[in-house]
Amino acid sequence: MSSSNGDNYKLDNENSEIQIYKHGATLTSWKLHGNEIIFCSGNAKLDGSKPIRGGVPICFPAFGPWPLGPQHGFARNSKWTQLGGSNQDGCIKTELGLKSNDETKKMWDSDFNCIYSIESKGNKLKLEMNVENTGKDKEFDFTFCFHCYFSVPDVELCKISGLKGLTYADKTLEGTPKNVEDRDEVTVTQFTDRVYEKAPDSGVILSGLHGGKSLKVTKSNLADIVVWNPWKENAAKMGDFGDTEYPTMICVEPANASSKIALQAGEKWTGIIELEVFQ
Ligand code: BG6
Repeated sequence: MSSSNGDNYKLDNENSEIQIYKHGATLTSWKLHGNEIIFCSGNAKLDGSKPIRGGVPICFPAFGPWPLGPQHGFARNSKWTQLGGSNQDGCIKTELGLKSNDETKKMWDSDFNCIYSIESKGNKLKLEMNVENTGKDKEFDFTFCFHCYFSVPDVELCKISGLKGLTYADKTLEGTPKNVEDRDEVTVTQFTDRVYEKAPDSGVILSGLHGGKSLKVTKSNLADIVVWNPWKENAAKMGDFGDTEYPTMICVEPANASSKIALQAGEKWTGIIELEVFQ
């Protein structure tokens, strides 16, 4: 089945349901047998006036502060075009696109074509971004992030395994010092903003989802994993995030943040993540 109101659309089958806003190509909901996996703030602005606070915003062509435009780039604040998709044999698929245009060129003078595909099948969700340099002769580079917000009953009970031994940049501290993770299971009990560099593609396992479920996050062509929770003090500063919502979410974000991806004219890059929920 599918439903649409122009700004957003839902697709479902007997197993799962996804909702996508064309603003930012933001996946705002992924339900498995009625259970929500994704966090989206009750205060999120869904009218296109700013990036959606929650779901899976797309950070492109920059992750983090960016001298040429807004934090995390313009893709999460641009209207994408729904390109098509299918819903058959237990697999829901939809595609959205964003091409360089006058607005993007004011910030970033590069010709590009992004094709984003979202596929839900069984207990898995696959997100695939294709970026093509459609310029004639100019190279460009960018950073990127699938900024995944997950819904959890209590962030302090969540555990993330698969990060031990990785160097991380701690963005909560002055100067963003680097350190090496020594914990088998990373927990989040305070303001956390870390970029774990060169994480293996086998990814991480996040436990502590609703119903005692866990999530396996695997990735391809994305070097890093970001872990973020604003905690009480920073939640209070965000107008589009409820003051008491921070314990109910965790961001685990496959990204290419610590290094840039360079594309020559005519070249393409594909970044993929797969999310798998299990008991
Ligand atoms: C995270 C960053 O990915 O996103 C944080 O690591 C940032 O530094 C957070 O604060 C939220 O960013 P924004 O722009 O959506 O408020």
